[in-house]
Amino acid sequence: MKKIAIITGASSGIGREFVKLLLKEKEIHEIWAIARNKEKLDRLKKRYGEKVKTFSVDLSELDAILEFAEIIKRKNPRIKYLINSAGYAKFCSYQELSAEQTVNMIDVNCSAVTAMSLLSIPYMGKGSHILNLSSQASFQPLPYQNVYSSTKAFVRNYSRALNVELKERGISVTAVCPGWMRTALYRRAIIGAEKTVNNFCGMSRPGNVAAKALRDAKRNRDMSVYGMYVRTAHLAAKILPQKLMMKLWMMQQNF
Ligand SMILES: NC(=O)c1ccc[n+]([C@@H]2O[C@H](COP(=O)([O-])OP(=O)(O)OC[C@H]3O[C@@H](n4cnc5c(N)ncnc54)[C@H](OP(=O)(O)O)[C@@H]3O)[C@@H](O)[C@H]2O)c1
Repeated sequence: MKKIAIITGASSGIGREFVKLLLKEKEIHEIWAIARNKEKLDRLKKRYGEKVKTFSVDLSELDAILEFAEIIKRKNPRIKYLINSAGYAKFCSYQELSAEQTVNMIDVNCSAVTAMSLLSIPYMGKGSHILNLSSQASFQPLPYQNVYSSTKAFVRNYSRALNVELKERGISVTAVCPGWMRTALYRRAIIGAEKTVNNFCGMSRPGNVAAKALRDAKRNRDMSVYGMYVRTAHLAAKILPQKLMMKLWMMQQNF
C-alpha cells in the first residue's frame, strides 16, 4: 500500500516548505499537492519531481473536495500526513468585506479543513499525523481581522479536540500557530483595504515554522508554537483579560 502525504496550499508559502521537508522522508512514496492555480502546481512538480502529484482543487467548494475524495477512494493509499495549509486572509474593517467574501474565507479556512480531515481519517492509522494551520491570530479576538482570527480560533479548537478523540487510534492532530511569516498571505490580505494591519512584528521564515511543526507532530503535540515572540503572546493571552489584549493590539497597530 502506498504511503502518501496530502498537503493543501502546497504551491506557496509554508505549504511548499512542508513539501520540501516531506520529500526527505523515505517512507513517503508520494506527496499529493493541492492548490487552485495549475501553473503554480506545474512549477512545483517540475521543481520537486515525480514524487509530487498535483491536484487543482478549489477548496471553497464542497463538491470539488468530494471529487478529490473519490480519487482517494479509488487509489486507497495509506495517508501518513494530512497537512491543511490552504487558507487566506482579509485584513480590513467589517464594512469592506462582502457576505460572499466572508463566507468564502470561512469555507476555505474552516470547512475545507474539517472536510479534508474527515475524508482522510479512514485512510490513516497508528503513526499518522494531521497538521492544521491555525495562527497566533487564534489566541484572542482581533479587530480589523475579525473573521480571519475567528476562523483560526475554530481551527485551533477543532484540532485539539480531534486530537483527543483520535488518540486511541494512534493518530495525532496538531494546530500549528505561527505568528507573521514571510509569505504572500499578508501582502495579499491588505490589498485595497482602507484601515488595515500595518505592524508585522516578529516576522519568521516559513521553513523554520514548518520544521518545528513537523517535529511537534511527531511528538504527538496538539499545538505547535514557533519562536519567543509568539510564545509570549500565547502566554499573555492566557493570563490577561481579552479586552486588554484587544486594547494592546489596537495600540500596536495604531488603530
Ligand atoms: N503568512 C502568515 O503570516 C501566516 C501566519 C499564521 C498562519 N498562517 C496560515 O498559514 C497557511 C498558509 O498560508 P501562507 O502564509 O503559506 O499563504 P500563501 O503563501 O498565500 O499560500 C496559500 C496557499 O493556499 C492555496 N489556496 C488558497 N485558497 C485556496 C482555495 N480556495 N483552494 C485551494 N487552495 C487554496 C494557495 O494556492 P492557490 O492560490 O493557487 O489556490 C497557496 O498554495 C494559511 O492557512 C494561513 O492562514 C499564515
